[in-house]
Amino acid sequence: MTAAQVVLVGPMGVGKSTVGRLLAEALGVGYRDTDDDIVATQGRTIAEIFVDDGEPAFRAIEKAAVREALAGHEGVLALGGGSILDADTRALLAGYRVVYLSMDVEEAVKRTGLNTARPLLAVNPRKQWRELMEARRSLYEEVATVVVATDGRTPEEVTQVALDAL
Ligand code: S3P
Repeated sequence: MTAAQVVLVGPMGVGKSTVGRLLAEALGVGYRDTDDDIVATQGRTIAEIFVDDGEPAFRAIEKAAVREALAGHEGVLALGGGSILDADTRALLAGYRVVYLSMDVEEAVKRTGLNTARPLLAVNPRKQWRELMEARRSLYEEVATVVVATDGRTPEEVTQVALDAL
């Protein structure tokens, strides 16, 4: 059994997959993303799961996907932005090197805009972002061993800061 070496958390659109790939390349390990795992195993997009089954059902699927990926992947693992809402998932992250990629609300609105592929941003993204960040910031901080602010930084710069901190 293998286990993830570096776990990336943070809000959607912060660059987890771009930075995760760069980080994996620099460390010479593989990259995996729990959103991709969910789409592959469910045969549906994340938006379809939200629409068809609702958010609680998605969170249950996500929780199982995170548990499996943490134990079964040796490399860099990016988690969906809302995975840390689950207390069991947060507890599971203890002992891992967890990098929290942060960004401020205005940066988030600028990067993601109105985004129908991201169900949580399909209406009034600025208000949604404010509420999301308020609800989640402390949860990201709770699980993080390293925090890297991404505002005003390129993915390459973010990767370098993360590498230096790891
Ligand atoms: C979500 C983030 C998304 C995806 C889903 C819900 C969230 O993942 O899991 O749309 O609650 O923040 P990314 O952070 O990979 O975009």
